[in-house]
Amino acid sequence: MAGKKKNRGLVVVANRMPVRRVKKGRAGDWETSPGGLVTALAPMLRERGGGWVGWDGSTGRRASVPFVHDTIRIRPVSLTGKEFETFYAGFSNKTLWPLYHDSIREPQFHRRWWWPYHDVNMRFAEAAAEVAGEGDLVWVHDYQLQLVPGMLRSLRPDARIGFFLHIPFPPEELFAKIPWRTQILEAMLGADVVGFQTRLAARNFSRAARRFTEARGPDGLLRFRGRRVVVDAFPISIDVDMYEQMARDPEVAVEAERFRASMNGRRIMLCVDRLDYTKGIDIRLRAFDELLSRGRYTAEDCVLIQIAVPTRESVEDYAELRDNVERLVGRINGTHSVKQHIPVHYVYGGLPTAELVSRYCASDVMLVTPFRDGMNLVAKEYCTTRIRGDGVLVLSEFAGAALELKQALLVNPFDVDGLAGAMEEALEMPRAEQKRRMTSLRRAVRARSVHDWADGFISRLREG
Ligand code: G6P
Repeated sequence: MAGKKKNRGLVVVANRMPVRRVKKGRAGDWETSPGGLVTALAPMLRERGGGWVGWDGSTGRRASVPFVHDTIRIRPVSLTGKEFETFYAGFSNKTLWPLYHDSIREPQFHRRWWWPYHDVNMRFAEAAAEVAGEGDLVWVHDYQLQLVPGMLRSLRPDARIGFFLHIPFPPEELFAKIPWRTQILEAMLGADVVGFQTRLAARNFSRAARRFTEARGPDGLLRFRGRRVVVDAFPISIDVDMYEQMARDPEVAVEAERFRASMNGRRIMLCVDRLDYTKGIDIRLRAFDELLSRGRYTAEDCVLIQIAVPTRESVEDYAELRDNVERLVGRINGTHSVKQHIPVHYVYGGLPTAELVSRYCASDVMLVTPFRDGMNLVAKEYCTTRIRGDGVLVLSEFAGAALELKQALLVNPFDVDGLAGAMEEALEMPRAEQKRRMTSLRRAVRARSVHDWADGFISRLREG
């Protein structure tokens, strides 16, 4: 039995694949996607000859063919254009995403979205059942695929099934609104281990499970239909060594200096977010406007760089947010520019990792102020790359990361005056205090890398 456990393979099931099509070069070639999940799991998968089931990002295409990339067996799942609308844009991103983020946008409940969500989840479960070997570990990820654990358990009772939710799990009274709440919870309880970013999210889940299903038992260990289900927090992290090494790379340092020089000695405040309405970008900009209106700082003293990474552009709320943010940037720049200095530099698009790290290294202050965020890895990346031990992190109380990064300047992201005050405090913080705080922040991030996160989850899954 022990030998069998040792040889268990691993199959990851996530909405996104770990690879993307190369833009240049031969058509049909793939490259590894940047991002924490892939970095954390790829070594494990290589070691175990593992598999990955994911959507290839296309719509309306012919069924995609399985292939091997860097020893990982990839099993693409394709979506039709209709399923993109109903499963992805609809149920995943207009029902679950806003509801799980404190309903900061009104979630929409449509029966015509539920069934495609159900059916696409079934397709992922069937693909996972095909890929997984006898007794393998199958690790299912995130809100798009919450029904997969239960479906897979029916198809493959021999598998050890784990589920990890990357986003918050809402309080019971919000979750209660979902017309399909019981089906979702029962399916999640099909897993042997259900993981969340925070203890609060884990507790919310256990409470909802006891209320809406026949699950019983204490928060951390539920009993459901004769099985035990471990429920716990596994806070995700970043590849600490990789970010630190990058920050030490002389080319990155040169680029950071070049960038600083291009800002003409002004203090730099940096913001890096997917252009998502949960990220608090609009209120943060209004707070910067307020800071400049107070008169103590002008565009000659400081600049705010907003890197806004495009996301889910087909969903109306996202298009609307982009319009609002760009209008605000225009208004602030129109009102507060001084001579040749404009106060907000707005970049619509992502940056390659090395360039992003050079921006972290060049910035005096990092503003991470989501209204609600499962974790927020940008905050951890900033601290890790501050190898000189200075810099100030302003962090929302409502990001999961705030539970670990206690020496950040913690703020309420809804409070415009409070945010403006925190920006001022950050700009004025003496170097000694910056160093004291940053040393502790860096230690906190270092304590747990994304590899520890993945190892921690997998060892809990193997137990039992
Ligand atoms: C969040 C979610 C992920 C998702 C990512 C990008 O981080 O937790 O599951 O993949 O956003 O969103 P997208 O809709 O482009 O996959």
